[in-house]
Amino acid sequence: MIVDAHGRRFRNLRVSLTAACNYACTYCVPNGKRLQAAVAELGPDELLRAVRLLVETAGIDKLRITGGEPLLSPKFDHFLPRVMQLPLKDVSVTTNGQFLPQKADLIADAGLERINVSLDTLNPHRFRAIARSGDLDTVLEGIRLMLAAGLKVKVNMVPLKSANVDQILPMLDYCLERGIELRFIELMNMGHLKYGPGYQRDFFGMDDILALIGTRYEFERTDAAYDSTSVRYEIPGKGVFGIIANESAPFCASCTRLRLSSNGYLYGCLSSSKRHAITDLLKLDDEQARTILQTRLMGALGDKQSLQFTGEVTVMKFIGG
Ligand code: GTP
Ligand code: 5AD
Ligand code: SF4
Repeated sequence: MIVDAHGRRFRNLRVSLTAACNYACTYCVPNGKRLQAAVAELGPDELLRAVRLLVETAGIDKLRITGGEPLLSPKFDHFLPRVMQLPLKDVSVTTNGQFLPQKADLIADAGLERINVSLDTLNPHRFRAIARSGDLDTVLEGIRLMLAAGLKVKVNMVPLKSANVDQILPMLDYCLERGIELRFIELMNMGHLKYGPGYQRDFFGMDDILALIGTRYEFERTDAAYDSTSVRYEIPGKGVFGIIANESAPFCASCTRLRLSSNGYLYGCLSSSKRHAITDLLKLDDEQARTILQTRLMGALGDKQSLQFTGEVTVMKFIGG
């Protein structure tokens, strides 16, 4: 097993099915133009083989399917049921939820047990202003169907000072009432945000979020997995919420995440644009591929930040967080 000087190893693989997205969230893309598929994206069977080789070589036991928007990709229907057959402890999907009503049966039939849905507001006008596409009711219906099918749902919300801070409490109530874990993601200073006033203007951090929630609820810190993205809190008798505090409580030191992009590159860190191609390995037999993959994985592990996310300009939108 490959371990770095901080004791970190890869355990958690996030595979992006496509870089394309049907939304154009203000914090993700600069000009309202939708994200397009990457050049030379891999097919579902190539991605499956890459994932299997990574599971075998790196000791991955958690897999997350991301994008872009993974449900937008025609690969999803083929990929999900097959990936569920791999020897993994945990498989999940991160989606903006717009296609959940269409894919609900497929997801339930594949045996997926949990899903994370991005949703920044319960106000339909504000929804359109942030996502610049999509329809709120469709996402809410998708969440309802996932809960009805017995999946554990988490909702990810990015609080933005100028757009949705007044939605923090309504979103929390909506989630608590339904047994959903709401996670507030601190705005990350990446992509176009690094070059304009948007980040300073909109950042609404952990202390502010907790102070606001404290006006309505008593809460206490509760446990989280050691390599979790979120700090978790329990509101006794009501439920749990979390904060993904990229700035206020960075979690690079215990990061176990590895990313595979839709066009076959490994990224060892969300904060680094360094990447390691693996498409050449897909032409080799398994044993040869695994040997070379070891070296590529060592390179990718070396790309991790030691302490804190500094946010190179690239990657979130291509590799799905
Ligand atoms: P769970 O296993 O359900 O806890 O999921 P997760 O939080 O690992 O996955 P999800 O796709 O829901 O990620 C939520 C957000 O966490 C992403 O949108 C990113 O903002 C952030 N995130 C994920 N991975 C990293 C990372 O390695 N570094 C940093 N700084 N943020 C990350
Ligand atoms: N800061 C924080 N979260 C972001 N996301 C995308 N860009 C950013 C950013 N700059 C989140 C979305 C979604 C996931 C795919 O990534 O809200 O939850
Ligand atoms: Fe699409 Fe996610 Fe970016 Fe929004 S944040 S545009 S849903 S990739």
